[in-house]
Amino acid sequence: GCYCGWTCPLGLQTWLSPSCRPCSDSCRLFYPEDPLKIVRGQGQYLYDEQGAEYLDCINNVAHVGHCHPHVVRAAHEQNQALNTNSRYLHDNIVDYAQRLSETLPEKLCVFYFLNSGSEANDLALRLARKYTGHWDVVVLDHAYHGHLSSLIDISPYKFRDLDGQKEWVHVAPLPDTYRGLYREDHPNPAGAYASEVERLVNSIQEKGRKIAAFFAESLPSVGGQIIPPAGFFQEVAEHIHRAGGVFVADEIQVGFGRVGKHFWAFQLQGQDFVPDIVTMGKSIGNGHPVACVATTRAVARAFEATGVEYFNTFGGSPVSCAVGVAVLDVLEREQLQAHAASVGGFLMELLEQQKAKHPIIGDVRGIGLFIGVDLIKDGATRTPATEEANYVVSRMKENYILLSTDGPGRNVLKFKPPMCFSADNARHVAATMDAILTDMEEKVRSCETLRLQPGGGPAERCPSLEEMKSAPQIHGGGDLQL
Ligand SMILES: Cc1ncc(COP(=O)(O)O)c(C=O)c1O
Repeated sequence: GCYCGWTCPLGLQTWLSPSCRPCSDSCRLFYPEDPLKIVRGQGQYLYDEQGAEYLDCINNVAHVGHCHPHVVRAAHEQNQALNTNSRYLHDNIVDYAQRLSETLPEKLCVFYFLNSGSEANDLALRLARKYTGHWDVVVLDHAYHGHLSSLIDISPYKFRDLDGQKEWVHVAPLPDTYRGLYREDHPNPAGAYASEVERLVNSIQEKGRKIAAFFAESLPSVGGQIIPPAGFFQEVAEHIHRAGGVFVADEIQVGFGRVGKHFWAFQLQGQDFVPDIVTMGKSIGNGHPVACVATTRAVARAFEATGVEYFNTFGGSPVSCAVGVAVLDVLEREQLQAHAASVGGFLMELLEQQKAKHPIIGDVRGIGLFIGVDLIKDGATRTPATEEANYVVSRMKENYILLSTDGPGRNVLKFKPPMCFSADNARHVAATMDAILTDMEEKVRSCETLRLQPGGGPAERCPSLEEMKSAPQIHGGGDLQL
């Protein structure tokens, strides 16, 4: 983040004013009109400076819960003993690589440790280029893979608003079966979307260009909480491999048991699918800056063959590895993967009930604790209900629930909470959302009745969503955690 330069002497209000802010406006806060000052976190809750408790539905970095005591203790104890770079022998790095390898297919047996998801994807790109001797990259539309220059170049979500698409980057359609090219009524959406990649690969080759890698999030999140149809990755991998490229699965948002059914989201595609490179970040260190690239011996050997060392000052330090092991311990001990499957399934059921009740909900999709609620203007066009989604997010915050939106239309409410999110939390969230949507619908209905009356009110008399926001607080079914 941005708030680490120097301290504004005049307190928070001045700090937030443009004339004093010590950081660039490129750095954004959640809820910019009414930002939160969070001072403490525990489990799935965050606490502001007045002690108000917020239910965190979006922090997939605090994977096993904010400030989990086992993870905090592991970091503290290792910090007291030693924290240095990985140029010495140390048990932690070996133990950690061993533990990670137990979660992955056998073929992915070489590990590089780094500090952020962006570093992991940048290294994945270097590995792919060295191994294949090729340069070009195929990515999914709307993808985000990180903030380094190399990754902005392969992130349509960013480059479209910056320098545009480089000649070595090629964009395949997002396999979105709700709003994309091939939808839920298509007999074989996986095959149809993979054929799009095949066509793209052919056209790249016709131009004499060579593909180093296909990058995809195993479940595209910035793209709108998308669940690619099973079998899509296998077919894509065939086309990419035939062109001499490798398949990179970005698990930075969705790995480590979040999907419940499997430890890695790419495994949803089928047990026969194994990427050539897997990148990990965010949840891997529960907030501590850790990241990892896992790959095959063949890819690693090609990288070694350059003779140039790979050195990363902080990556793989004894503290980072202790933290990584502690996160895996908690996942196992608290059986959080199974928990994500059951609570996520329950939340999906509750949200499906909301969909049956509120026409603004066009689609509820997800798996485990990775869920999207797609808000639409109307069922026929599926036009994104962006303003309404923002309104819901802001009303949820008034009700002490932290949510946010994703997708190109910024209309998909995303759920990716810490994995300790409970069934009671799910009930509370669904009930609060129900109350907010019911209230919103009632207001819209009364406005329409007014307009339909003879000599009825002008459109301006309808409350805007902004005006609706100043309505009294809504109390959903469960307890409000104050
Ligand atoms: C899918 C994906 N890949 C990569 C990154 C980059 O990770 P980091 O911000 O740790 O550099 C992000 C961050 O949001 C991400 O969502």
